[in-house]
Amino acid sequence: MLKKMPTRDLKVGMYVADVGRAWFNHPWTKKSRLLTEDSEIRELVEFGIDEVYIDTEKSRFNPAGSRRPFQPVAGTSGPLRGASAAPAAPAAPAPRQSEPEMVSQLEAELPKAAKAYGKALDTSKALIAACYMNKRIEVSEVQENVDELVESVTRNQDALSALIKLRRFDDYTYTHCLNVSVLSISTGKALGLSQEDLRILGMGTMFHDLGKTRIPAYILNKPGKLTDDEFVIMRNHAALSEEIIREQKLDVDDQVIQVARFHHERMDGSGYPDHLKGEQIPRLATICGLSDVYDALTSDRVYHKGMLPHDALKFIYGLRGTHFEPYWVDRFVQSVGIYPPGSIVELNSGHIAVVIEIIHSSLLNPIVKIVADPKGRLLGKPRLLDLSSQTEGAGWSIQKVIPPSEAGFDPSRYFNLKEASK
Ligand SMILES: [Fe+2]
Ligand SMILES: [Fe+2]
Repeated sequence: MLKKMPTRDLKVGMYVADVGRAWFNHPWTKKSRLLTEDSEIRELVEFGIDEVYIDTEKSRFNPAGSRRPFQPVAGTSGPLRGASAAPAAPAAPAPRQSEPEMVSQLEAELPKAAKAYGKALDTSKALIAACYMNKRIEVSEVQENVDELVESVTRNQDALSALIKLRRFDDYTYTHCLNVSVLSISTGKALGLSQEDLRILGMGTMFHDLGKTRIPAYILNKPGKLTDDEFVIMRNHAALSEEIIREQKLDVDDQVIQVARFHHERMDGSGYPDHLKGEQIPRLATICGLSDVYDALTSDRVYHKGMLPHDALKFIYGLRGTHFEPYWVDRFVQSVGIYPPGSIVELNSGHIAVVIEIIHSSLLNPIVKIVADPKGRLLGKPRLLDLSSQTEGAGWSIQKVIPPSEAGFDPSRYFNLKEASK
């Protein structure tokens, strides 16, 4: 969202979207930038620019204020120990008492996102129970919850998705449809879908696997490979999802039914139930299909551990041009992020860091919190580092991803999840 603001009220961390002048009439080479130093604000003032437009979504400083501050980069001690091969440690001036707090917009949204997710999870359980017991599905209740998910994603595209990764709420049976819904809404938002389309996408994804309630449990929960006959039965679930919606004469948009029926259709015609190809597959069903594969690959199941997100994305990338149109795969990767929030990574210096926020325009360079030195010793004061910043992030990069099981700590401790559980 763009907001007009007097230049003198600008703070480091705000994203100036437009200085409101032609290029020859302001001091910067471009009209937009993230403010990283006070001198940049001074330049604007000295140039006689009284007002600018800031982008509140791209800003790291929340003008509305929040009780949750970013752990400031400033105020931590000097260079990290044991970092001889590391680039210079990020430096920033210590915050003055009078300065407003820096907040992560993602963290500010987490409590609201958690509330919306908790309510939607109850509804998701009720939805599945209603199907098992052949009871009436309350569409308005599902829509109400989906609307809250859409609102959260509209405020911050990544908070709900981060929550899925950081917290294990319940078992796969109940969380899968909801998680696919969250991932799809978030991707749809990144694609610029209208609010109405996001609501439809949210509903379709919540309903996409309801047909599984009509698949025998021994097939659904079989740990090993399904036989050919079992596969035929299993593959019928997409058509059964449509059947449930039609049987109950649910008052939903036709596209909701399409998402349910076509979420396993694939670009090359290898999908099911109708072997649609290319553009025959509705776009909302494609978004659902990508989110569905991603959630299935990254979720822990009774019989196997979920893949790391970047491994799952590599797998999905391998389906680019066969199962999925390259355009959709690229947009999906852009939305989910190569290193989603909560990922544990090793930096080129050997330091261990937790990914806090994705920078969608620079996927390899998210905002991280450095939490351990190269010897693996946890730091008392984790320090925040924007790897995409040309100043503080210069020289730093991610070297590899560390599986949570090898990290020896829970990455969720570095997020505002205490408040989120209220
Ligand atoms: Fe499915
Ligand atoms: Fe699914």
